[in-house]
Amino acid sequence: MTYDLGKKWKKDYSMDSTLKKEASTMDYKVELLTGIRPTGDLTVANYLGAVAPIVELQTQGVSPVVFVADLHAITDNEPDTVRQYIHGVVADYIALGVDPQKAKIYLQSDIAGEVTTLTAILSRLVSVAELLRVPTLKDKLKNNARPETANALLLLYPVLMAADILLNRAKRVPVGEDQLAHMEVTRLLARRFNKKYGEIFPIPQVLQVKSLRILALRGKGKMSKSNPGGAIFLTDDLKTVANKIKAAETAFEGVMNEKLESHILIAKGLAKTQSERDEVDAVIQEHKSGKPVMGQFKQILTRIVQNFLSEFQEKRAEILHDPSYISSALEEGAKVARENAIETLSEVRKVLRFD
Ligand code: TRP
Repeated sequence: MTYDLGKKWKKDYSMDSTLKKEASTMDYKVELLTGIRPTGDLTVANYLGAVAPIVELQTQGVSPVVFVADLHAITDNEPDTVRQYIHGVVADYIALGVDPQKAKIYLQSDIAGEVTTLTAILSRLVSVAELLRVPTLKDKLKNNARPETANALLLLYPVLMAADILLNRAKRVPVGEDQLAHMEVTRLLARRFNKKYGEIFPIPQVLQVKSLRILALRGKGKMSKSNPGGAIFLTDDLKTVANKIKAAETAFEGVMNEKLESHILIAKGLAKTQSERDEVDAVIQEHKSGKPVMGQFKQILTRIVQNFLSEFQEKRAEILHDPSYISSALEEGAKVARENAIETLSEVRKVLRFD
């Protein structure tokens, strides 16, 4: 049997004028919301694609809400393993520039009661067949899971994500391409709920993060955990990084290719100063004019990445050195998240006459 998204979903999904009207009649509570799965080692691609944009918006005066999606993470990990990553991922985000003075950071399971109740309520508004048509699940079931053995949390994954977003009444959610379908499910559920029970949920918007194509240093595809030799992890030691860059694929003199473009994005994205960025531009200019300067480029790239990593690793160690620092940041975040969640859920229960 094939499950195709078909026209119906496209219609439900598309941004139309009624949507704008709905949005303007209800108040957003959180300007920018993002959830992160605590599943270990981030790469520089994760930083450039997911964390740097949040930090940039924070610099512009937006107060982001960042939460650790531990309930999502137990879809394909043992809860005990997930628990061990929680403090680490919070330390990663803070060391990368998310400022607990400006941002709120909370743990999803600190509002587990609210999140799971809303998940149950929202689940009633979507059919099993529709959930099976969500492209991310379809891909998973085609490539690395089977309906007979995949656990059912995988099916509910997008509804749980919708509960996070709608409970917060979030306005903008920065997501990569892989999460776009989940955002569409969120918007669909919000609109169905509003139509059936009353206008509770402002419709969240996807914050389009300019998609950066960071490729593996060598080998096929994007930089990812599944090809560790081609990935720079934030936890890599400086020697390892130097070796990985040494083994990276580049381009012949005078030629630009995707790999080299990606290396340049890494260099310029991680550089701390304009003069370093100028240095990158200058050597690439020479490369384009046919000079054999890839060795020199790799030296510059190595220096930039090492500086970035050593500063990051030092900050991270400092943060983790005082365990109460993260606990109190999470407590502070949970207070705000809980207040918000309780308020939303009580309105939901009221219109459902389920209070
Ligand atoms: N599904 C997201 C991911 O895998 C994590 C996530 C869970 C999330 N809930 C969210 C992201 C709400 C944004 C908003 O990356």
